[in-house]
Amino acid sequence: MYLDKEDELILAGEYGETRQKMMEILVALGKVFGAEDLVPISSAQISGASYKTIGKWGLEWLNNLDAHVAVPSVLNPIGMPRENWEEIGISKEFADNQKEVINAYRRLGIKLECTCTPYYLNITNYGDHLAWSESSAVSYANSVLGARTNREGGPSALAAAMIGKTPNYGLHLFKNRMPGISIEVEKGEGVHANHYGAIGYLTGKLVGNKIPLFKDIRPSRDQLKALGAAMAASGAVALYHVKGITPETKLPTFSQDPSEVITIEQSEIDALFSDIDVDAVAVGCPHCSPDELAKLAMLLDGEKVKRPFYIFVAKGVKDANLQYVSKIEKSGARVIEDTCIVVSPAMDKFETVMVDSGKAYSYVPNMCGCNVRIGTTEECVRVAIS
Ligand code: F3S
Repeated sequence: MYLDKEDELILAGEYGETRQKMMEILVALGKVFGAEDLVPISSAQISGASYKTIGKWGLEWLNNLDAHVAVPSVLNPIGMPRENWEEIGISKEFADNQKEVINAYRRLGIKLECTCTPYYLNITNYGDHLAWSESSAVSYANSVLGARTNREGGPSALAAAMIGKTPNYGLHLFKNRMPGISIEVEKGEGVHANHYGAIGYLTGKLVGNKIPLFKDIRPSRDQLKALGAAMAASGAVALYHVKGITPETKLPTFSQDPSEVITIEQSEIDALFSDIDVDAVAVGCPHCSPDELAKLAMLLDGEKVKRPFYIFVAKGVKDANLQYVSKIEKSGARVIEDTCIVVSPAMDKFETVMVDSGKAYSYVPNMCGCNVRIGTTEECVRVAIS
């Protein structure tokens, strides 16, 4: 793999041991995947931020690093909100460990925005190369924004953040971004027909890591977010296209007709929904957009929740939409920043949790040890207040 003079000096240890180690990670990855060179990135998003997922060994690794990031870099959700964490049942022991993780990342120059929706921070443009690691964020960046990122692990995203470059392979190359399978979604009727989390959950299971092309659906941006997040969780989809909607399908060089076609039937979608009893409700997977907060504020206006109802969001989005947050919290629901349904231990105490997200539906049983029920956002609110 070609390295320029500066990169060679970093690799030789001229800029310190941490940068040398980071460059070694990038070079090793580049060799494994046949990258010809490194490509400059405009931002990094780093997973491995919750103490629940990295534990004490991850923390020790972070504490041994001694360099600053070279590009704007943010974190994936951590295991608790940075303030008032005790209100969602986080133990002091967990909180102390999580604070140490936060301090380790702060020391490296990483912005303490802890979110899987870094695209709401306006740090990404069409065509940018990135090193992002959270699967739903990767999917949104590649598919909806037309940026280019592989799905990085926490260490490789951190290495790219510190060097400001990433190996140029996989989804960084236009030739690797063409669809490999066409998805037809049967036009159904009823409240679940346009549940893009459910459609994504079923599609991801069928396509694995192929790049799907949808031709006959017209999702909004929030629905694209739900669709991509679910496909990344139940499958390994890091890029998908929706004809006429996602940007790369409008390019003259885009290849429109994969030979393999599968159909998602309405009966399969309907079969995911049940009415089992739940003891808590959680939405905001991926973190809520301003529009989703507005919708929740409208649905909860004048209502009181009768069971715990958690709404997860990026701190920046929460702070910019306090008018919706206060309306939501008047109902007794909680709007929680920095953390999420899956990476915090907050949901683990419940037996059955209701979600509106195909990704949460896929992850909650294993990651939180609870049963899960999926519904629309409206159904989640209805259950929370009944
Ligand atoms: Fe985000 Fe956590 Fe869901 S990281 S996509 S809210 S599982």
